[in-house]
Amino acid sequence: MTNIFTYSNQTLQQAARIIKDGGLVAFPTETVYGLGANVYNPTAVANIFASKGRPTFNPLISHIAEFDMLSELAQTDSRVTSLAQKFWPGPLTFVLNRKDMNPALDLVCAGLKTMTVRMPAHPIALDLIKQSGVPIAAPSANRSQSISPTTARHVFESLGSKVDMILDGGSCKVGVESTIIDLTTPQIVMLRAGGLAKEEIEEFLGEKVLLSHGNPDLPSSPGQMLKHYAPRLPMRINICPEDKEDNEFYIGFGIMDGNLNLSKSGNLLEAAANLFAFMHLAEEQNEYPAIAMAPIPETGLGLAINDRIRRASYNK
Ligand code: TXA
Ligand code: MG
Repeated sequence: MTNIFTYSNQTLQQAARIIKDGGLVAFPTETVYGLGANVYNPTAVANIFASKGRPTFNPLISHIAEFDMLSELAQTDSRVTSLAQKFWPGPLTFVLNRKDMNPALDLVCAGLKTMTVRMPAHPIALDLIKQSGVPIAAPSANRSQSISPTTARHVFESLGSKVDMILDGGSCKVGVESTIIDLTTPQIVMLRAGGLAKEEIEEFLGEKVLLSHGNPDLPSSPGQMLKHYAPRLPMRINICPEDKEDNEFYIGFGIMDGNLNLSKSGNLLEAAANLFAFMHLAEEQNEYPAIAMAPIPETGLGLAINDRIRRASYNK
């Protein structure tokens, strides 16, 4: 049985319903097919990472369908607005300072103070976002480390039944991912070359765009990541309840209960969805000067969780 559905009014309504209910929909954009979920549903977003087998919580692009959605999510200025008006909808993604501090968005942003936003130039993608009523988080709809999909069939071959529905809109016109530019600094930096040429951006702005020397697949250098993930309070990890100090706020997992519990049933998907929000809660409380966290199994999404908390605890 295939979960590929040809685009129609009816299948689009079904897809929007799936997004609203916290499911995953693969959908066409002009660049590549995206694996979409409601940005405000951390469990659905965690499921994107699980389905792709992405080893760490690399932040995801929020896809929008109306210009108003941009200023609700992120901080904009006249440079951002004019670039959006010129190149959107289209294969250009902006890294901007995050404005919407709803903790439900933490996983999409992977705990960073920045976020990426794009308005795709594909009628099905735009329609899906509008009908869902929320921005849609979407990486390319393929298993981690395989090639990005440009047809519904590619998606099916890579992810199969891991996605609730694959909306078939034919082949993607652009076929490579969007160009990503960082607009958080005065000098624009291109983090990923993609569907929109650097020269076009330079010509429009009348200024040079720098090329990032970092790894194009990483949001920032690991060093920067360390900084971003550091909570305000010292944190110890891999701590069983009996080894916890009295002055530590305890984040539990499974039967190791605490002030908070990432997942009482020991579900790593649920734990991943709660992680960033709980780390925020732990550092915002005033009762305990330190944080301790229960051991998390090193399997599935546990790899990503452990990667993040290891960074957070090293830094202090
Ligand atoms: O064309 C595209 O951009 C496709 C379609 C589906 O829109 N999406 C896509 O997403 O290629 P993904 O997740 O495969 O690539 C997004 C890239 C990742 O390398 C991620 O690290 C980077 O964007 N990224 C996301 N948020 C970031 C941030 N706040 N700062 C820097 N880089 C970020
Ligand atoms: Mg990708």
